[in-house]
Amino acid sequence: MDRKNILLIGFMGTGKSTVSSRLKKRLDMKEVDTDALIVKREGMSISDIFAQKGEEAFRNMETALLEELESQRNLIISCGGGMALRDENAAIMKAAGTVVWLTAEPETILKRVKNDDSRPLLRGNKNTAFISDLLEKRRPKYEAAADIAVATDHRRINDICDEIIRKIDEN
Ligand code: S3P
Repeated sequence: MDRKNILLIGFMGTGKSTVSSRLKKRLDMKEVDTDALIVKREGMSISDIFAQKGEEAFRNMETALLEELESQRNLIISCGGGMALRDENAAIMKAAGTVVWLTAEPETILKRVKNDDSRPLLRGNKNTAFISDLLEKRRPKYEAAADIAVATDHRRINDICDEIIRKIDEN
């Protein structure tokens, strides 16, 4: 079956990549990871893009990529954690498919990100106070961009996918 795109949004460490690869198998869709595609095209890591070109340049790359993907179908688009921050992106995402917001508590996020140094915004900030503060600042943006929300704390990946599929079909 040819499905409407599914866009996964949410804070770093909410499980977007893991959920994306499981959903891809279960729904027989194609998968695009915006971070991975930007890294591939630029030929440098996210940290190097932030350091050498600046965050604004990275955000422009994200918007351009979304515009490029909008007209396609049958994609699971796993978005970088900051994708929902621009209202412009939120509008493109809504037009591109169903926007699924994955949530997690700061403690869960910290556990998932603590051994990974690929995220420039968390460098030197791997503590629940920082995560919780940034999460609260961003929450209204995620909420506004999302069609549906699914919690990921202490849950099996297949249960999370079951809930996503059920809510998408109801949406
Ligand atoms: C970011 C999240 C990262 C990546 C970049 C910025 C953010 O993606 O796009 O480091 O602003 O939340 P993940 O959510 O996949 O870690």
